[in-house]
Amino acid sequence: MTKQTIPTTNTKVIDWVNEIADLTQPDAVYWCDGSEKEIQAINNLLIENGTFIALNPEKRPNSFLARSNPKDVARVEARTFICCEKEVDAGPTNNWANPKKMKKTLNGLLKGCMKGRTMYVIPFSMGPLGSDIAQIGIEITDSPYVVANMRIMTRMGKKVWDVLKDGDFVKCLHSVGSPLKKGQEDVPWPCNPENTYITHFPETREIISFGSGYGGNALLGKKCLALRIASTMARDEGWLAEHMLIVGLENKKLKIKSYVTAAFPSACGKTNMAMLIPPKEMGDWKVSTIGDDIAWIKPKADGKLYAINPEAGFFGVAPGTSEKTNKNAIESCRANTIFTNVALTDDGDVWWEGLTDEKPAHLIDWQGNDWTPKSETPAAHPNSRFTAPAGQCPIIDKNWENPAGVPIDAFIVGGRLATNTPLVYQSFNWQHGVYLASTMGSEKTAAAEGTMGEIRRDPMAMLPFCGYNMGDYWNHWLKLGASLKHKPLVFRVNWFRKDSDGHFMWPGFGDNMRVLEWIVKRTQGKANATETVFGYSPSYNDLTWTGLSMSEEEFNALMHIDTSLALKDVEAQAVHFEPFRKQKTLPVEFDAELILLKSRLEKTE
Ligand code: OXD
Ligand code: MN
Repeated sequence: MTKQTIPTTNTKVIDWVNEIADLTQPDAVYWCDGSEKEIQAINNLLIENGTFIALNPEKRPNSFLARSNPKDVARVEARTFICCEKEVDAGPTNNWANPKKMKKTLNGLLKGCMKGRTMYVIPFSMGPLGSDIAQIGIEITDSPYVVANMRIMTRMGKKVWDVLKDGDFVKCLHSVGSPLKKGQEDVPWPCNPENTYITHFPETREIISFGSGYGGNALLGKKCLALRIASTMARDEGWLAEHMLIVGLENKKLKIKSYVTAAFPSACGKTNMAMLIPPKEMGDWKVSTIGDDIAWIKPKADGKLYAINPEAGFFGVAPGTSEKTNKNAIESCRANTIFTNVALTDDGDVWWEGLTDEKPAHLIDWQGNDWTPKSETPAAHPNSRFTAPAGQCPIIDKNWENPAGVPIDAFIVGGRLATNTPLVYQSFNWQHGVYLASTMGSEKTAAAEGTMGEIRRDPMAMLPFCGYNMGDYWNHWLKLGASLKHKPLVFRVNWFRKDSDGHFMWPGFGDNMRVLEWIVKRTQGKANATETVFGYSPSYNDLTWTGLSMSEEEFNALMHIDTSLALKDVEAQAVHFEPFRKQKTLPVEFDAELILLKSRLEKTE
């Protein structure tokens, strides 16, 4: 690549880039401009390096398949650190490290780590350029694969310099941690799994990630900036950075257009709900997508909360995604998409478990080996992904790039629970809603450590993503809500209840629209509810049933609350709060909610 003029006069950027180049000693420094010409050169380089396989352009235009090192396939929570001055500020749910000590360790690893490689400087905006909710980051990386993904996932390129001017930005430093000696041949997926560190310095708004090239470990705008660092910014500045999808729900006949957000733990179907297709019997409803993973939410002068999706693409889990489960996601990745760790078909297209009912007779699996339906290992890695531009989603909302964001009427929270959690209920008020979100979680499965059926709490689905003490985070939610003139309503949902034979009691997917309809109507004061011990719940006749055969009895079973099980859960909730109580960050309001819940339950015994 030819010698470039530096595209910014921001001395903080220039000094930092020089400092990192001196430390990491790359062969070249390249400032990304985000142009079409540039991405073509990057894609060609990735093909040349063996990182990308170009897919059949007739089947999957301008799309590529990457196969990672089998040791570098997912976010590594055990190697993820919050490095703030006081350990208590990281809280009981994060790995903490002393910032000075961690910088020392990292500097040792970073010294000369880009030798033999090009160092790319990626200016990017999380959120529409110039939006007052958006933030600017600059990622320095030695991975062209990261450049190609960041171009899809963020607004990346030279326009960012005009918005940044001489302002501040989040420093995002990434290296695959695999320098090349003179003449040493590169591998398709360089990484350093033995020395991986995903570190965050919330007080100085910095991220340093070393050793992994995969997903949230390496695309630093996503989990690292948009959640861990942004959550601390949001605490300091009075807004929310959340692990939430955002959807528009419109019914022209009823003259309703509402936006809601929803927090579900990873792998609970956020992308599916963000792109939901209502059952044809509910054809008056239209769902539109703003985002599938992250919401930045700010109070505005009218007393409402407004949300943007800080991302510009979807980094979706491929397995299980099909025309039946999520047609809109399938359409979103028809072209201009990077696939990572999926299988390759004999005609140069991609495949993963669940894409089609019938398995192809022959594939090359995610590790590059021959695969047939008789093979014992999956063809695609369970965490294989597609990186697709959000604008390609057929139901993208017309406001998805609106810099002002969209007004939020409801927050939906939920996990994956087989027992004793009704399909839907509304919190009594904001405080109770924050409480419901703080106790949400999913049951442990046989694959996870711990007792089966025990709940792994994942408050607000932020367990791996909150950049500070989660008790302080709950207090922040409570304080923010108290200041709002128009508070969104809070709902807890559970799509995953099972009967005693282990069958799902609710069909989920498009039929979730029946629940969303009730939720939206509640926000408009147009739906009935009955008070229960958990909150306000719909009765059978409050939901639309055309097109689904579910009897009143079946619905009541789906909504049933077993008092003695719920009382046991009260005890488990108290245990969940204990570490925060010890650190004196547990909101006093939660003690009150716990007492109220217990007394409501005891009265029904
Ligand atoms: C994700 C996650 O990749 O939540 O979005 O793990
Ligand atoms: Mn996520």
